[in-house]
Amino acid sequence: MIIDIQHVTWKREALTLLHDVSWRVNKGEHWALLGLNGSGKTTLLNMITGYLWPTEGSISVLGHEYGSVDLRELRKSIGWVSSSLQEKLYASDRTQYVVISGKHATIGLYNKLAGEDLEEARHWMQTLGCEHLWDREYRTCSQGEKQKLLIARALMANPQLLILDEPCNGLDLFSRERLLDSISELTARPDTPSLIYVTHHTEEILPVFQHSLLLRRGEVFRRGFTADLMTSDVLSDFFEAPVEIDRHGERIYVRAAASKG
Ligand SMILES: Nc1ncnc2c1ncn2[C@@H]1O[C@H](COP(=O)(O)OP(=O)(O)OP(=O)(O)O)[C@@H](O)[C@H]1O
Ligand SMILES: [Mg+2]
Repeated sequence: MIIDIQHVTWKREALTLLHDVSWRVNKGEHWALLGLNGSGKTTLLNMITGYLWPTEGSISVLGHEYGSVDLRELRKSIGWVSSSLQEKLYASDRTQYVVISGKHATIGLYNKLAGEDLEEARHWMQTLGCEHLWDREYRTCSQGEKQKLLIARALMANPQLLILDEPCNGLDLFSRERLLDSISELTARPDTPSLIYVTHHTEEILPVFQHSLLLRRGEVFRRGFTADLMTSDVLSDFFEAPVEIDRHGERIYVRAAASKG
């Protein structure tokens, strides 16, 4: 079991920001986490990575129950890529060192380079299709290129769980497709970690994300097979507004239904 969340509630003063959330992710599964702004996605991820503590309920990640495990150790097995991380890294660092810093989850590189570090960084940059950025200053890379570097950086630690929190934010149409292709290739590898892909956009949910969790106002609206959930009925219910879906290949595009009359 990769994630086992049971009846988790998180209260902040008078507000209940997560309510009775239960969610299991088994080894080998990749999940999409879908919800509108403010639905609680990042809050839930903060619980999974141990930065927030549930008010009620239990969480175990990678077989360790929170409360009885050294979180700093456990976090080494969890990769987390988000746009807030992008801003924290040092602008003048060379790309390969940004990638290598993921091995120790540090901002900047403080540990002595091990012999295989450069080779591993090259391997992950190749996997993400960004090897051509080698030895560039991080600040000179585009948003999409930075996202690829950050995923490569997270993979340096050989995580068993990799969380991608809206990785396509700020990417143009083509950069987005390139990043999605790289993610797809990553999941084809035998040593792939379990992925959690957080998004507002159904069309970013690649076929490899066979499971989805729909979060609304801090509650699980539905969870299960993506194919069962990506229908106009379920999504209209979920968004509380009529939507229609267009299927293009294996991708689902949602648009507001034309109003009648
Ligand atoms: N520490 C906090 N104190 C009070 N409210 C909070 C706190 N952290 C988050 N919230 C609120 O909880 C709700 C869920 O926030 P969260 O960041 O988890 O949403 P999200 O689903 O990640 O949204 P987005 O898609 O915009 O990133 C929001 O209404 C937010 O304002
Ligand atoms: Mg968020």
